[in-house]
Amino acid sequence: MSTFLIVSTVWALIALVLLVIAWWLARIGRTVAHRNIMILLTLGAWVFIFNYIFVQRYGGDLGSFPKEYVPWIALHGSLGLVPLFGATCLIIGRLMAGRNRFSAHLNRHHRLYGRAFIVVWCFTHLGGIFNAFFLR
Ligand code: HEM
Repeated sequence: MSTFLIVSTVWALIALVLLVIAWWLARIGRTVAHRNIMILLTLGAWVFIFNYIFVQRYGGDLGSFPKEYVPWIALHGSLGLVPLFGATCLIIGRLMAGRNRFSAHLNRHHRLYGRAFIVVWCFTHLGGIFNAFFLR
């Protein structure tokens, strides 16, 4: 396994645990801790994506998948962008609370969007762990 894959898999495991903890914290009303973890995870996800693009572009040892897995890899990657942009919007919405209609909408439906994004996010990490162990 390449260094990139090892780091990605470790990050995926940590992020999975933190996502569940952040959700639980929100449910019991520990908003500040919930917010801090979600901001950390979202920043981490952006770092991961930029690192992934950088490694792809400058020829790291990501290796290649057998052709038959390409549709799954494309689905997995595209789905991963949903919680990435979604969580970023939720955070911006909270930070800009009361300033515009976009943030008002996001904050009104924070719980609904948040639940959907966390589920897709967990699925993306589980998919990444599956890829690292079974598709290489
Ligand atoms: C600045 C960042 C954030 C703050 C201040 C914040 C704050 C809150 C607060 C106050 C609640 C309680 C309910 C409500 O307001 O509707 C909540 C619930 C929730 N948040 Fe966040 N949140 C943030 C980011 C996120 C992000 C990025 C996600 C997911 C991508 C998320 C997912 C959730 C979920 C799933 C719940 C509902 C928990 C439940 O009752 O099942 N939050 N959040």
